[in-house]
Amino acid sequence: MPPANNQFSPSDLQSLVSETFVEQIDYHAEIGSTNDRAMELAAQPDDQFPLMVLAESQTAGRGRGSNKWWAGSGALTFSVLLATNTAQLPPDRWPQVSLTVGFAVCEALEELLARGVPTTSLDQLPRVQLKWPNDVYIEGRKICGILVEVPRDRAGRLLLGIGINVNNSVADAPAELQSLATSLSDLTGRQFTLTEVLVEVLQRLSVRIQPAELWNAEVRAGWRQRCLLTDEQIQVDLGVRHTVGRCRGIDDEGALLVAVSDDQGGEQIERCLAGVVTLLDGK
Ligand code: BTN
Repeated sequence: MPPANNQFSPSDLQSLVSETFVEQIDYHAEIGSTNDRAMELAAQPDDQFPLMVLAESQTAGRGRGSNKWWAGSGALTFSVLLATNTAQLPPDRWPQVSLTVGFAVCEALEELLARGVPTTSLDQLPRVQLKWPNDVYIEGRKICGILVEVPRDRAGRLLLGIGINVNNSVADAPAELQSLATSLSDLTGRQFTLTEVLVEVLQRLSVRIQPAELWNAEVRAGWRQRCLLTDEQIQVDLGVRHTVGRCRGIDDEGALLVAVSDDQGGEQIERCLAGVVTLLDGK
C-alpha cells in the first residue's frame, strides 16, 4: 500500500470549513487531547460555532471513564464544540445525542466503504454497527469511539469528541487492543484521504445532530437496525451495581433494554440510560 498523506494542508482546512457546518478550526499537529482543548475554548465568549479542534496526533487522548484512547498515525482525532439551546436539547436527551452521533458516523463509514464498489458487490460490504451508547464497530471490532461531554462552567455548549481509525493499522496498536480494534485501511487494504473522510462524517453529523432529528423515527430506526447488542447476552456496569441479561434493543428515548430473569422464571425489562456494556458470549 502506498503511504498515505496523513497531514492536513491549509487548503484541506479551508475545504473542511466550506464543505461542512464547521465555522472555525483550531488545528494542531500534536496535542494532549482535542476534548481537553475544546473544553478550554468553550469558556471563550467570542468563538464561532460549531468549532472543531482537529489534531494529527494526540499524546493523551481520553476515552470514557478512565480509559485512554489509542490512535496511531493516520487516525482521525477531533472534537466538535456546539452551541446548543438547552431548551431544545435538555439533558435527558443526551443519551439520544450520543447514539445519534454514533449513527451519523455509521452512515458516513457505510458511504465511504461503498464508494467505488460495483453495485453488484454492495451486499458483500461489512456491516457497520453501533455498540450502545456510542461506539462504532465493524466485523466485531471497534473502529470509532465517541466521547460526549458537557463543559461544566459554560452552559449552552456540548462537546462531541470523535476518534476514527482510518489509515492507522491496529498492527501498531498496544498488544491488548490488536484483537479488539480495526481501521478502514485494515478492513479494505486501501488508504483514505483524511479530509474526505472528515467531510463525510461532519456532513452526516450536521444533519443528524439537529434537535428535531433526535425525535425522528428514521434516526431511531437507524440505531435499532445497527445495534450490535440486540439478542446478545450482556452485562451493563452501572457504577454501583451491574445488570446481566439479554439485550432487547434500544427504546425511543435511547435507553438500552435488558431482559433480566426474575425469580418466577419470567423476565423483566430493565431500561439503562448509562453504563458500560460487556458482551458475555465471548464476542
Ligand atoms: C471511548 O471509546 O471511550 C471514547 C474515545 C473518544 C476518543 C476521542 S479522540 C478525539 C477526542 N479527544 C479525546 O481525548 N478523546 C476523543
